[in-house]
Amino acid sequence: MRTQVCIIGAGPSGLLLSQLLHRKGIESVVLERKTKDYVLGRIRAGVLEHGFVELMREAGVGERMDREGYIHDGTVIAYDNHQFRVDFAARANATVMVYGQTELTRDLYAAREAENGKIIYNVDDVSIQDADGAAPYVEFNVDGNGQRIDCDYVVGCDGFHGVSRKTIPETVRKEYEKVYPFGWLGVLSETPPVHDELIYSNSTRGFALCSMRNENLSRYYIQCPLDHSPENWSDDAFWEELKRRIPEETAEKLITGPSIEKSIAPLRSFVTEPMRWGKLFLCGDAAHIVPPTGAKGLNTAASDIFYLYHGMAQFYIDGDTEGLDSYSEKALARIWKAERFSWWMSNMLHLYPEQSDFDRKMQRAELEFLESNESAQKVMAENYVGLPF
Ligand code: APR
Ligand code: PHB
Repeated sequence: MRTQVCIIGAGPSGLLLSQLLHRKGIESVVLERKTKDYVLGRIRAGVLEHGFVELMREAGVGERMDREGYIHDGTVIAYDNHQFRVDFAARANATVMVYGQTELTRDLYAAREAENGKIIYNVDDVSIQDADGAAPYVEFNVDGNGQRIDCDYVVGCDGFHGVSRKTIPETVRKEYEKVYPFGWLGVLSETPPVHDELIYSNSTRGFALCSMRNENLSRYYIQCPLDHSPENWSDDAFWEELKRRIPEETAEKLITGPSIEKSIAPLRSFVTEPMRWGKLFLCGDAAHIVPPTGAKGLNTAASDIFYLYHGMAQFYIDGDTEGLDSYSEKALARIWKAERFSWWMSNMLHLYPEQSDFDRKMQRAELEFLESNESAQKVMAENYVGLPF
């Protein structure tokens, strides 16, 4: 089998890139380890930067997002039993879209299938060969049969645990990592959101986040110890703890209900450099991870895809490799700014086990400064809605 671009991973990164390339007449094949239903079963975040929203529209898959998504022009920060709002529209002249990643991925699958996009599921033993040579190819097994795809380029959209990043030799690759000493226990409930905007809360008991998917589907998180598991938390215990971590005026309005999903995610900051090795490019979680505090996970994937899609179009249409040659440098420049913002939000909002009294005072000063200073709110708003691509 031969194609122009072999994409490994049919998560949002791989699907969006495949769809954008297709609209430029560039052929791709997507290899996915799991089934489509398995991919769609993953519960992920749901805040899209305006750059990602535009990319979805450019890919021709923005119609349901625009119809069912929610425009948010601000967010709420809570601490010390009170809360204040950061106005994105006033401070950054932009908004974000609340639209679940699951739905976005569903829309991307539908578009690829409608246009006969080639996605091969249940592949295993994927290996990328000759990536630093002239004629890369990908070997894999499906249904017990060995297969090979010859291609011009390979794009690793296979997430943190994929094979692509590890294909780059350790002598070439440099990795940067910070593991946070806590996790997020998340609950999905078919209940109306407690507020019409997100609430990020710093409390003496730990971080909490009130989010949503639609008028009757809410997403809540509380910081929890790394050694906890969802089984440690009954629904009642979760709701009681959440109420103790948000301002009383908000807790009184909280409508609780049975969890339809409950999971714990660790928090990590991670970047690998470079994001290109010969004919292999890395996109999204394959190259970088952010703590979810800044809602950047999917949005950092968007700028990778934006740069790579334009670079490939420039090559296949104009024969110019400038965009491909500058991809890693441009992608990393924006990634590190998103890493900084996610690290800053995480440091400001969480209770760190080893935190000194002085550290807590610094956190409070950060929150008070953000609450009282227009410039501080402008910086936060510009980062939250998304820095330019
Ligand atoms: N071969 C084929 N597919 C693979 C392999 C492999 N060896 N390893 C992983 N995959 C698939 C996974 O099954 C998954 O469907 O690659 C896909 C990677 O998808 P994501 O992990 O969702 O990564 P990405 O598409 O970059 O999206 C980033 O997803 O995890 C969230 O917070 C993250 O919101 C961010 C977004
Ligand atoms: C979510 O809705 O899942 C969500 C929203 C904002 C975040 C993290 C997660 O920062």
